[in-house]
Amino acid sequence: MRQTLIMGNWKMNGSRAESQALAQAIVDGLEPGDQGIAVCVPFVYLSDVRSIVESTPVALGAQNVADQEKGAYTGEVSAAMLKDSGCSYALVGHSERRSYYGDSDQSVAARFCQAQKEGVTPVLCIGETLEEREQGQTFSVCDRQMEAVIEAAGIEALANSVIAYEPVWAIGTGKTATDEQAQEVHKYIRDRLAEKNQEVAENLQILYGGSMKPENAKGLLAQPDIDGGLIGGASLKAESFLGIYRSAS
Ligand code: 13P
Repeated sequence: MRQTLIMGNWKMNGSRAESQALAQAIVDGLEPGDQGIAVCVPFVYLSDVRSIVESTPVALGAQNVADQEKGAYTGEVSAAMLKDSGCSYALVGHSERRSYYGDSDQSVAARFCQAQKEGVTPVLCIGETLEEREQGQTFSVCDRQMEAVIEAAGIEALANSVIAYEPVWAIGTGKTATDEQAQEVHKYIRDRLAEKNQEVAENLQILYGGSMKPENAKGLLAQPDIDGGLIGGASLKAESFLGIYRSAS
């Protein structure tokens, strides 16, 4: 049985005070027994948020990680630094990184490997653009993005990772994939991985991301191959983030 994971991606939003207040409001809204909840915080606020979520069920994540171990890589943050800052998760290959900052499939795979080497669980983000969907390339894009990681890390490495399917056309647009559209791709991803390793595929958490909100979360999270959500805009308010979290249970 796969555990549901509801993960916020705060992106480049908020001040120190706002990040602390948001983290505190999420923690305050938890109930006994809650688990499977995480927030991916801007690097500079990781330690502020850490001191609030530490010893609570809220896991800490980063939004990216360097593709190198250490050294002269100005501006980068290593997996070891993330581990040291209390991160359990790091997003890799978010579509905003791929499209605005040129993160290639190969560099995403290297980031994935670096995170895993340090015991930080990589959350591999994959998904097609609108143009790719319209050209019938949804599955082949997902394949290509997964394949680069499998080639670098091996299929077994996916056992200690999370995949987030985020159709680019649904991110920040208010246009969510329908329950059926999302389930179709999630099932495709799982079936494809099962051809390589059944056990890994069955146990892998595959999150959906793209304009998820309390109003549409229930339907999405009820799909058999959707194991949680990676939430942008709606994770910036404790009420809507927790609303999504509650609709999963
Ligand atoms: P939105 O929920 O704002 O569409 O963002 C999704 C996302 O990119 C999460 O990583």
